[in-house]
Amino acid sequence: MNRYFPVGGPVSEDDIIDRELFLEGITRRLRDGQNLLLAGPRRIGKTSLALEVLRRLRREGHDVALVDMFGITSARELAEHLADALLENRTGIQRTVERIRDMVRSASPAEVRVSVQGIELGMSFARRHGSDLDLLEEALGITDKMARSSNRRVILVFDEFQELARIDSNLHKILRSHLQQKPHISCLFLGSKPTLLDQLFSHGNEAFFRYAVSLPVPEIPPNAWSHYLVRKFFERGISITQAEVGALLKITGGHPQDTMLVASEAYYVLMEINCHVVNLTVLEIAYQRALESLMRAFEELWGGLSEHRGAQQLIKKVASGERPYSKNASPARVGRILAYVMSQGILVKVGRGQYEFLEPMFRDYVSRL
Ligand SMILES: Nc1ncnc2c1ncn2[C@@H]1O[C@H](COP(=O)(O)OP(=O)(O)O)[C@@H](O)[C@H]1O
Ligand SMILES: [Mg+2]
Repeated sequence: MNRYFPVGGPVSEDDIIDRELFLEGITRRLRDGQNLLLAGPRRIGKTSLALEVLRRLRREGHDVALVDMFGITSARELAEHLADALLENRTGIQRTVERIRDMVRSASPAEVRVSVQGIELGMSFARRHGSDLDLLEEALGITDKMARSSNRRVILVFDEFQELARIDSNLHKILRSHLQQKPHISCLFLGSKPTLLDQLFSHGNEAFFRYAVSLPVPEIPPNAWSHYLVRKFFERGISITQAEVGALLKITGGHPQDTMLVASEAYYVLMEINCHVVNLTVLEIAYQRALESLMRAFEELWGGLSEHRGAQQLIKKVASGERPYSKNASPARVGRILAYVMSQGILVKVGRGQYEFLEPMFRDYVSRL
């Protein structure tokens, strides 16, 4: 079920706002065999973009797979998720591996291989034989057969890739060495911890050093928001003028999820009062409600910052409009804290010694603490 204004997860094809050139660029690069890295804070649309790219490449005849590293706890799970996602291209079902297991449970030991839509699979999957790493190798091996049969590159997306380190510190090396032997695979790595990813992809002694080209995720341009919001509200007989669109983007800073959320709340406010025009009062109420619904997430974000000494203080300072560096603070210390809060995707540098919140609604939350 599609929500009217989608919030909280990847958006469907219809709700992807603009970023068309960027989407075309990523699609082209992956098709050509380039590996890419998109690192950026959470809830700005990385997964949405990746899924849209996969839909396009899939339509061109590529086999594609997305594996989310969140929630995966072992190399075995990674292998199974990858195999499932790959095989889904051909079987159309989500949990192929489990199905195969059910099938072979009753088969005789003499039958040593299974074939899924022309893709042969080793029995280690079906019988849970072999080590976790054998399974991973076998899952990646599925792509060999796919590429041969389609004559096209296989596209893999690893979402929240920084989580791989949490599973097993050796996995990076292993994965990289397997991937390197498979020129028919293009990888798109996504991650929400820019510093961790940076480390992994740009440090000489790390496994993925220079393995992928890192691209910044562009903002959604204001005029694209405007087209989208006007069209969406119009679909339900509601009008919104450029002035109100401007006001909405000003309070959310155009942050993808926050803007969607306020628009969504505005819609429900209008339904309650049986009105069909978005005005500033409606936006104000919608904003307050959106802020309330973000409270839990913001509390968590804020709480997490206590891990790093001085981070909360510094953020509070920036929220109140002050500059982070001041006479009585050690510049080296402030620099370290700034590096940390930027790595968390909270502040961005906007000029010399000047920092701004990436998410204005979070700034608002902090300044009310
Ligand atoms: N291109 C987009 N068009 C419209 N809304 C978007 C777009 N990208 C992100 N959003 C909004 O942000 C939310 C989070 O998107 P998601 O792709 O899950 O982000 P990420 O993977 O960066 O955490 C979506 O539910 C939607 O509200
Ligand atoms: Mg995501």
